[in-house]
Amino acid sequence: MIKTPRGTKDILPEETFKWQYLESKFKEITALFSYKEIRTPIFELTEVFSRSIGEATDIVNKEMYTFNDRSDTSLTLRPEMTAALVRAAIENSITNTGGVQKLWYFGPFFRYERPQKGRFRQFHQFGVECLSSPYPESDIEVIQLADKLIHEIGIFEYTLFINSIGNKISRENYNKILIEFLQDNKDKLSETSLERLDKNPLRILDSKAPEDIQLLENAPKISENLDDESNNHYGKVKEALNQLGISYKENFKLVRGLDYYSHTVFEFQSNHLGAQDSFGGGGRYNELFSQLGGKDIPAVGFAMGVERLLLILDSINKFDGLNEEIDLYIVKQTSNNEIFYNLVKNLRNQNIKLSYDLLNKSMKSQFKDADKLGAKKCMVIGENEIEKGIVSLKDMKTGIQKELKFEDLTTTEILN
Ligand code: HAM
Repeated sequence: MIKTPRGTKDILPEETFKWQYLESKFKEITALFSYKEIRTPIFELTEVFSRSIGEATDIVNKEMYTFNDRSDTSLTLRPEMTAALVRAAIENSITNTGGVQKLWYFGPFFRYERPQKGRFRQFHQFGVECLSSPYPESDIEVIQLADKLIHEIGIFEYTLFINSIGNKISRENYNKILIEFLQDNKDKLSETSLERLDKNPLRILDSKAPEDIQLLENAPKISENLDDESNNHYGKVKEALNQLGISYKENFKLVRGLDYYSHTVFEFQSNHLGAQDSFGGGGRYNELFSQLGGKDIPAVGFAMGVERLLLILDSINKFDGLNEEIDLYIVKQTSNNEIFYNLVKNLRNQNIKLSYDLLNKSMKSQFKDADKLGAKKCMVIGENEIEKGIVSLKDMKTGIQKELKFEDLTTTEILN
């Protein structure tokens, strides 16, 4: 048997209704905040990601699906959207309109990671990016959108962690202070962190190694080394979150796994997920446009892992008993196809969701199928009924039966 590649999975018909539920919520909430959808190619030129996410990050170093096509061009299956969206914004002059551009997306992404609960090689993200505003108002709007979405889909237990990694000057300054501290304590660092010390010292803050965690307790904090501009920006974000009643925890170690961030960074975590507890994250990225060859355009956004949202929703039984039902199952006991097909056509034209037997099954089996499909009503059309010009209609919940004339087969009569 040929199976799906490791770390990927089929989304089967019993599950698609959950995806459709989430997708409809994404559309509903983004419309409320007036964001417009953007769709970009699944693969990009490799440099889109290597120049933006950071050469020293895990994503670029170990996780990208990169290949040369037949004309020897290096392409990469997109591991995330932000860089691809910025490429699209520059190429299509999206930010030349004046004002802000508010965009959302949903689709598959690819990272060659070790698969485990909540971690796949093909996964899906929903995300938003708000382009062109340097002000904390836009950080606040995207966090507010994320928070509202999480509530609207039915998740109430989670933690929002926030931090500021400041502007470029603050970060460069803090990097020096951090490196000095880590150099002085080199012997206490884990092997991975030792490797990162030269290339990407900020990421050491993110380390899960116990020896690093212990050492970092006493490390200088970035929040205590921000310049006035960065402090001001961060202060306004926190103030607005308080005013909006959005609870958050500050986590001075939160730096995120991508290099393009500046100022605000944030992450949503849940206890329902096990080791991969972060189901969404984002932040501001004021230098990414210029890094990819565009003008200096500030921006902020976030992305959520759709598989992780579904894991949380499943663990709180959100979808129990919610599989899609049909309005009507028609038990066919006649060979008069002309009348039967026209009746069915007439019902479907009235937008009644219905199904009937295509396997010439017995009446008893057809009733069983009606049950399996979760039909609300069941209609019998046999020779007798056709002769009299009536059908019998059974309510599958109450068992109550009634007879209806062909000409009375309206939505109201059938569905009520
Ligand atoms: P990220 O934290 O790398 O950020 O990914 C966002 C979310 O995608 C994660 O919180 C997680 O839920 C999900 N995710 C990531 N990798 C996997 C995986 N292998 N399997 C399942 N789910 C996964 C970004 O991608 C940034 N582009 C977010 C952003 C948007 N920042 C600014 N704008």
